[in-house]
Amino acid sequence: MQPSGTLRIHELTAEERAVYATLKPEQLPEHVAIIMDGNGRWAGRRSLKRFLGHQQGAKSVQLVTETASRIGLPWLTLYAFSLENNLRRPRAEVNFLMRLLKSYLESNVQRMMDNNVRIRYIGRTHDLPPEVQDKMRWAEETTARNTGTTLTLALNYGGRSEMVDAFRGLAAEMQQKNIPPSHICEEDIHRHLYTAHMPDPDLLIRTSGEMRISNFLLWQIAYTEIFVTERLWPDFRGIHLLEAIADFQRRERRFGGIGESCGEVEEDPERMRIVAG
Ligand code: FPP
Repeated sequence: MQPSGTLRIHELTAEERAVYATLKPEQLPEHVAIIMDGNGRWAGRRSLKRFLGHQQGAKSVQLVTETASRIGLPWLTLYAFSLENNLRRPRAEVNFLMRLLKSYLESNVQRMMDNNVRIRYIGRTHDLPPEVQDKMRWAEETTARNTGTTLTLALNYGGRSEMVDAFRGLAAEMQQKNIPPSHICEEDIHRHLYTAHMPDPDLLIRTSGEMRISNFLLWQIAYTEIFVTERLWPDFRGIHLLEAIADFQRRERRFGGIGESCGEVEEDPERMRIVAG
């Protein structure tokens, strides 16, 4: 759970403040990840071209990030462009998404500065067009000293390819240091993931109702709470992030243990008898 003291809740909208007031500040998540889905459907329902859905989705990215920053959320990770999007979407749509990302960075870095947001990326970003990579580097360097929310965009990202990259890195290290396979532990794999520098997500939100993980943060979400909303991403705003956090706070996280309302623990296992059957 995050430390309090960085809250700028006076800058929330009145509606957001009302939901924020119901939250327990000491139990805010540290890391929220979002599968942003439904841009195409949002456009389709309005008989608009798909690219307008993506454009509207980019607005949601900025507004949700600003709310995250105002409540002092340390880590926000957004699935912006998957490896599968890159391989399976029409070239024209992929090119549009690349142009949109570039213009998003150009026009929002000042707002990130104003909101103390730092931007970073995960994924095989070295395969993105060079001019997009230049803009990404510029935005990352410009915002590097901000201390509020770290917005991580997953770009050209896939959970399985992240593991392949991690295992390659780990195998090379083991070979170099002559470490036997039996010495590998979970921490070694964690160290080689793109996300080695951040905590695992506490909460994963997926918009537009699909009950899928879609190859997102496969290793990291082992104990993450999942919240699926029917709302399409272009309609998702800061208040909906707060509502998802409110739902998260009503859950009991067990991490494989037993909950508080799960019966008494028998101290002496010898005295345990099977009663039924
Ligand atoms: C899914 O909508 C969304 C994506 C392809 C990824 C998210 C992209 C954005 C929010 C655009 C801008 C992002 C940034 C960071 C500038 P979909 O097309 O799969 O929707 P559908 O399932 O309804 O067709």
